[in-house]
Amino acid sequence: MDDPAIRYNDTVMDHFLNPRNAGPLPNANAVGRAGSGDCGDLVELSLRVEDDRVVEARFRAFGCVAAIAGASVTTELVRGRTVAEALALTNTDVVHALGGLPPRKVECSILAEEAIRAALGAYLERNRPADRLPTDAPAAENPPAAPDQP
Ligand code: FES
Repeated sequence: MDDPAIRYNDTVMDHFLNPRNAGPLPNANAVGRAGSGDCGDLVELSLRVEDDRVVEARFRAFGCVAAIAGASVTTELVRGRTVAEALALTNTDVVHALGGLPPRKVECSILAEEAIRAALGAYLERNRPADRLPTDAPAAENPPAAPDQP
């Protein structure tokens, strides 16, 4: 439960009370979760990536005001960005987009950053080009050269 002495700005409260893009994304191809071991809060980010660009983003969260507002604004921040641009987002960008967070709540925005990395890290792992696969692939995929013909 949030400390009633903590004051949030209007932007944070708007994202908390009217979360953008909340709920599951049925056609997501990049899903990541991040949780806090300290408080048990959880953020799940579901993305649809097409042609290296995030075209849809939705979230589900169980957490404090800052965690929910951070996840909400993150769905707006990642949409339209390339995968590399989205991966470059940090919790500082999330806090800035929210117009600031109380100092004690800044670390709650890290869940959004970690959820982006989890979602897109797994996406890149599944979609990396075949020429970047490890070179120690099984022998069947790298048959020895045929002997020279006399
Ligand atoms: S108190 Fe857990 S994320 Fe904010």
